[in-house]
Amino acid sequence: MLWRCLLLLLLIVGGVNCNANSNHTIDYEESTLRILDVATQRMRSIWEMRKRIFLQLTSKGKSPLGGQAPSKQEVEMETYRLVYELAANLSVVPVEQLRDLKLRRRVQRLAKLQLQGLRPEQYEQSKDLLRAMQNFISGSLVCTHEDCSARRPTAMYPQLYNQNMRTKRYEDLSFNWYSWRSAINDKDTARSTFIDYVRLLRIAATYNGHVTPSRTWYLYYDTENFQAEMESVIWEIMPLYRELHAYLRHSAIQAYPKADFKDDGAISAPVLDQMLSQAWYPHQIFPSPFPKDQLPSVHHRLEEVLVTPVKINKKAAEFFESLGLNKMTEGFYERYSRRMNDDEGGPDCKSQVYYFPPEVALRYCPKLDYKKMMQIHGTMAELQYNIYKKELAFGLDTEPCPGFGSALGETAVLASGTARHLQRLHILISDSLTEGQSLNRLLRMGVHTLLAVPQYFINDKFLVDVMDGRIGVNEYNCAYWRLQDKYAGVQPPIWRSEKDFDMDYKFYRGMNPDTSNTRKFISEILGFQFYRSFCLASGQYKPGDSMYPLHNCDFNNSTEAGNLIREMMQLGATRHWRDIMQIATGERRLSGRGVLEYFAPLFTWLKERNMQLDIEPGWDADELCRKE
Ligand SMILES: *[C@@H]1O[C@H](CO)[C@@H](O)[C@H](O)[C@H]1NC(C)=O
Ligand SMILES: *[C@@H]1O[C@H](CO)[C@@H](O)[C@H](O)[C@H]1NC(C)=O
Ligand SMILES: *[C@@H]1O[C@H](CO)[C@@H](O)[C@H](O)[C@H]1NC(C)=O
Ligand SMILES: *[C@@H]1O[C@H](CO)[C@@H](O)[C@H](O)[C@H]1NC(C)=O
Repeated sequence: MLWRCLLLLLLIVGGVNCNANSNHTIDYEESTLRILDVATQRMRSIWEMRKRIFLQLTSKGKSPLGGQAPSKQEVEMETYRLVYELAANLSVVPVEQLRDLKLRRRVQRLAKLQLQGLRPEQYEQSKDLLRAMQNFISGSLVCTHEDCSARRPTAMYPQLYNQNMRTKRYEDLSFNWYSWRSAINDKDTARSTFIDYVRLLRIAATYNGHVTPSRTWYLYYDTENFQAEMESVIWEIMPLYRELHAYLRHSAIQAYPKADFKDDGAISAPVLDQMLSQAWYPHQIFPSPFPKDQLPSVHHRLEEVLVTPVKINKKAAEFFESLGLNKMTEGFYERYSRRMNDDEGGPDCKSQVYYFPPEVALRYCPKLDYKKMMQIHGTMAELQYNIYKKELAFGLDTEPCPGFGSALGETAVLASGTARHLQRLHILISDSLTEGQSLNRLLRMGVHTLLAVPQYFINDKFLVDVMDGRIGVNEYNCAYWRLQDKYAGVQPPIWRSEKDFDMDYKFYRGMNPDTSNTRKFISEILGFQFYRSFCLASGQYKPGDSMYPLHNCDFNNSTEAGNLIREMMQLGATRHWRDIMQIATGERRLSGRGVLEYFAPLFTWLKERNMQLDIEPGWDADELCRKE
C-alpha cells in the first residue's frame, strides 16, 4: 500500500493528501466502535442496577423486580471496573486517525480518567482517604467542653456549624474554630491524610501522561493553566469584594467590641465563616442596609399556596415547560418521582436525580420552605438535562465539564427566588421589592455568593499548587494563610505555625472530585454568566433601565431563553465546554460580568455607605503564621 501511495505522490505533485494510513482509519473506527458498543452494553446493565436500587428504595423494602437490589457499593465497583478497563482498551487507539470528530471526542473523554484511573488497591485507598476526610466534617470528633466524658463529642457539620451560626460571642467562635482544628489534626492526622491523598492524585496524573498533575485534576476543562482563568475572575470581581469585605469587617467590630481585632483591615477567619453561614439567618451580625424595609415573609404564604412538596415540584416543572423544554408526564410523577423518607437526606436534605436511560428519576426532600422551593428548581434543571443527554452516545451523555450542569441549575434557582417569580406563584402580592428591600436581599445574596467564591478559589488553588509542587511540604499552613490574605483578606484568629493544618471543612468536602471546589466555583461564576444571558434573551433584563434590573428577572415563559438552554443541554459533552457556553453567552471564557451586573446596585450602595462611615476598603495584614 505504501508504494502505491508513493507512486501517487510522484504522479500527482502537490494538493493530494496521501495518507498511508487512510485505510487503517476505517479499521480503527470500526474496532473502536466495537469496543464502545461492548462498553455501552455493560453500562446498560449498570443503569439497570441503578434502576433497581431506585425502585427498591421507593417501595418500602420490597424489590418490585424480584430479588435483592444491588448495593450502592456494587454499582460503584462495577462502574469503576468498566471505566478502568475501557480506558485501558481505548488508550491504544490512535485518536488523530479517527475522522469522525464525535467518535474522536468520545475516545478522548473515555481514555483518560481521574481517581478511577488508579489501580484497584490504590483506588480503594483513595476512597478510604476520602471517607476519612469526610469524617473530619461529619464525625463526632470535637470535645467542646473540658471534660469530654461528660458529653458526647460534637461534629463540625451540622452541630458546630449551627452553633457558630447562632452564637453572639466571639469566644465561642474562636474556641470552636480552634477545637475542631486540633481535634482533626491531633497526631498530624489531617495533614498526613491530605498528603497521602495528594500522592494518589499525582499517580493518577502519571497514568494519563500528565507531567503537571493538575492537568488531571482539571481534566475536563481541557485548558492549559485553567487556574489562571479562574484567578482572573477573582481579580475582576475584587473591587466589589473589597467593598463588601470592608462593610462586613466594620460590622464585625461593632458586633464584637471586646474581640480586640487588629487594625489591619483583615477579617478573622471564624467571623468570616459565621457571616457566610448567616446569609439567610434572621439574626445575622451584619446589619441590613435598610433595617426598616424588612423582606416580606414568604414562609406562611408558601405553605398556604404550595401545600405539599409535590405541588412545589409541579410548579418547578411548569417553569421549565413555560420555557418550551420537556414536559414531565403523569407517568413520570407516578413511577419515577418519589418522596424521601423523613429520616433520609441528612441535615441538608437535598433532592436526588437518578439517571438510568431511557428513564430519569427523582427522589425529593419532603421539606417545604423557601430554600427548598428554590433548590428544587435547580434539581428540575438537572432532570431536564438528563432527559436531553440520554439521547447521546455513552461517553458523551454528560455535562461538558464539571459544574456546567449546576451552573444551569443555578440560573433557575436565581430566577425562582425573585419577587417577580414569587408573585407569579401567588406567594407575594407585588412583583418587585422596594429599593430598600432589594438592597437588603442583594446584601444577603452577596454574603452568600461573594464571600464564598474566593474561598472556593483559595481551597482549589491550595490543593493544585501542592499537587504541582509549587507549595512545598514544609510550608503548607503558612502558604494557605498567604492565599487567604491575598485573595480574601482573611486572617487566623491566633498565631499559627507549620504544626497546624488550618483548612476549613469545605476544603475537605472539595477533595472529592464530585463536590470539588473547582466545580463550585464554576457553577457560581458560569451560573451568573448564563443567568445574565437568559435574562437578556427574555427581555426581562435591560441594562441601564432601572425598571428591568438583572436581580428581578425570572425569564419565565421565555422561549428565547428556553431555546438557548435546550441547545446547550442537547449537546451534552459532544463539544468543548467553551463552544457550548458560547451559544448562550457569546463568550468563550469565564467572566465575572454576570456577578458584577447582578450586584451593581449593591456595589453602588456599599461604596457610598463605606464612604459615609469613613471606612477604607482593603487590608494590609501582618502575617500570623510562622514556620517554627
Ligand atoms: C482504501 O480502501 C478503499 C476501499 O475500502 C479503496 O477503494 C481505496 O483505494 C483504499 N485506499 C488506499 C489508499 O489504499
Ligand atoms: C477490554 O478488552 C478486553 C480484551 O479484548 C475485553 O475482554 C474487555 O471486555 C474489554 N473491556 C472493555 C470495557 O472494553
Ligand atoms: C410561567 O409562565 C407560564 C405561561 O407560559 C405559566 O403558565 C406558568 O404558570 C408561569 N410560571 C409560574 C411559576 O407562574
Ligand atoms: C407567554 O409568552 C407568549 C408569547 O411568547 C405570550 O403570548 C403569553 O401571553 C405569555 N404568557 C404569560 C403568562 O406571560
